[in-house]
Amino acid sequence: MIDRATIDRIFDAARIVDVVEEFVSLKRKGANYFGCCPFHNERTPSFSVNPARNIYKCFGCGKAGNAVNFIMEHEHLSYVDALHYLAKKYHIEIVEKEQTEDEKRQKDKRESLIIVSEYAARIFQDNLFNSREGSLIGLSYFKERGFREETIKKFELGYCFEAREAFTKKALEEGYKEEYLVETGLLIKNERGLFDRFAGRVMFPIHSLAGKVIAFGGRILKTDQKTAKYLNSPESEIYHKSKVLYGIYQARKSMVQNDKCFLVEGYTDVISMHQAGIENVVASSGTSLTVEQIQLIKRFTPNITVLYDGDSAGIKASLRGIDMILQEDMNVKVLLLPDGEDPDSFARTHSVTELEDFIRTNETDFITFKAKLLLDDAKGDPIKRAQMIKEVVESIALIPQDITRSVYLRECSRLFEIDERVLAENVNTIRRKTAVKSKQKPRYDDVVEDTVDPFILREPEQPISPKNLDIFEQEIIRLMISYGNSILIEPDIEAGTPGTTVSEYFIHEFRVDDLSIQQPLLQKIFNEYEQLLATGESVNDTYFTRHSDPEISKTAAGLIAPKYVLSRIHTQHGAVVKTEEVNLNAVVPQSLMAYRNYRVILMLEEIGQAIRQAEEDKNTVLLDELFARYISLNQVKKELAQFLGKRVYNF
Ligand code: CTP
Ligand code: MN
Repeated sequence: MIDRATIDRIFDAARIVDVVEEFVSLKRKGANYFGCCPFHNERTPSFSVNPARNIYKCFGCGKAGNAVNFIMEHEHLSYVDALHYLAKKYHIEIVEKEQTEDEKRQKDKRESLIIVSEYAARIFQDNLFNSREGSLIGLSYFKERGFREETIKKFELGYCFEAREAFTKKALEEGYKEEYLVETGLLIKNERGLFDRFAGRVMFPIHSLAGKVIAFGGRILKTDQKTAKYLNSPESEIYHKSKVLYGIYQARKSMVQNDKCFLVEGYTDVISMHQAGIENVVASSGTSLTVEQIQLIKRFTPNITVLYDGDSAGIKASLRGIDMILQEDMNVKVLLLPDGEDPDSFARTHSVTELEDFIRTNETDFITFKAKLLLDDAKGDPIKRAQMIKEVVESIALIPQDITRSVYLRECSRLFEIDERVLAENVNTIRRKTAVKSKQKPRYDDVVEDTVDPFILREPEQPISPKNLDIFEQEIIRLMISYGNSILIEPDIEAGTPGTTVSEYFIHEFRVDDLSIQQPLLQKIFNEYEQLLATGESVNDTYFTRHSDPEISKTAAGLIAPKYVLSRIHTQHGAVVKTEEVNLNAVVPQSLMAYRNYRVILMLEEIGQAIRQAEEDKNTVLLDELFARYISLNQVKKELAQFLGKRVYNF
């Protein structure tokens, strides 16, 4: 853990313009700098950097944050690693926070497990190249499979001697602790004693993202029916199978460079493709794909192509796994290899240009692939056909992006010869149902929208939906973060009332009316603010943009990044613009009114629906009650609208 003072020093030193300029060329425009966004493709610069607040924000894709967030996203580093990166750049010595005994023990243990694993990998490698048994059995096996020496070294492949205690003895003799050797699964301990798990196998080390050996896969050489072809390390404190992808360390650079990742089944598939010149390949090795693995890939690229063996019986079974990838908002393609080939054999027998050609001409987007596959299956059977359409529609419904969904709808309508609108209706029905069922994770990227003026009363052309309340919540949190400490109501010395700050005002108003923020991240900010105030701590304007939770700092930066348009008005006219800062006593209550107003509109909408239902049911008692509520709420709405109609500030 890095202590707070050091973190603050890093933030103070890391000037955002300086940090970003290392990767993006920036041009100054007024108070801000602009450049082409490094996180999405664009030709006209919409990526803005604001030195005053030390934050960046892209008005194209919505990505925003502080210097640490930038390095995290750009260099694919964790929060702590990004801090280290910046500390190094600015020559700041990192002072580690005092760890508790428990934390120390845990960290020590993890480190020990890694040390043991790295040691084992070294020994297995040494066996392969520098022993008679290793080179006769292990090395010749790999060579027979067509692996070149440089490839073997790159993947740190090795060999574990056949004698059941060879590694055990050596490791213990050299002082490695039994406890760690057993926990990593390198040794097996039972009533008969201690011996090697991987005896007589060729070894495939599994690396962490940082390149440390955390586990092994060991392949048997004889075709022996009794033992499994591959043995893998058990789960341990350093190895969580579901979170690891084989080859990710070797693939990471190429994944970013090519903005794409190939997903294969096994160790040898990864290695052969690498050797053939395609390095952006990973394998889920033996387990079915997990959400964590998908998210790991997503840190590098949103584009994923799944490779299937020509004769893979498991294609249909794996369709569900691919649905999961869609749900994570990734672009999924599928590549079916010729009959009888797997990626390993195919890569070994083709040149890199042949491979690339084959990929280019044969990869299909997943939905089309699934549709064709099922369509073949259903041929003249109308019941099967209906079932198939249902399945494809379900896949489409999982895609979070509207535009992508509609592209697929069009494609499927063509393939199935079904009216696009009918498909769309089905998709929408599914989406409505699942939206209610699963509380979806907030996707802040979708929500941060600077183009909407929250003070414009939303007229019904904008669908009235609870979703749209987001905009008003954002405005309130934005004001709290930007001006939370500013005095809104001056203290009255005669009456003896203390002054009220902007944040106190909002918190008070929310508590009095028992209101709550619906977006989880914003709610977190609000609650943390309230807690800090309650314990008498002051919250300065960098508190949230420097927050240790990157989700919060990014959200905060996204909210308070100065609007593009606004800064242009500033410079063009050069006029003295009344900024909102001097107008807080108008802006702040107005934002709350606008929020309340929208809540009233939502309630009216709800009552309206209840009224229609009650009319249908001919429930006159209920109708009277509903009308009464409708009328009184409508009155509230009118009053609010009157207040909001007076636009107090002018840009
Ligand atoms: N696997 C496993 N345990 C097994 C069989 C397979 O863990 N008993 C995993 C391995 O990660 C393997 C992958 O599943 O790489 C794919 O299995 P398979 O296609 O059978 O192996 P290949 O990678 O093709 O290995 P080889 O070419 O050496 O037979
Ligand atoms: Mn194989």
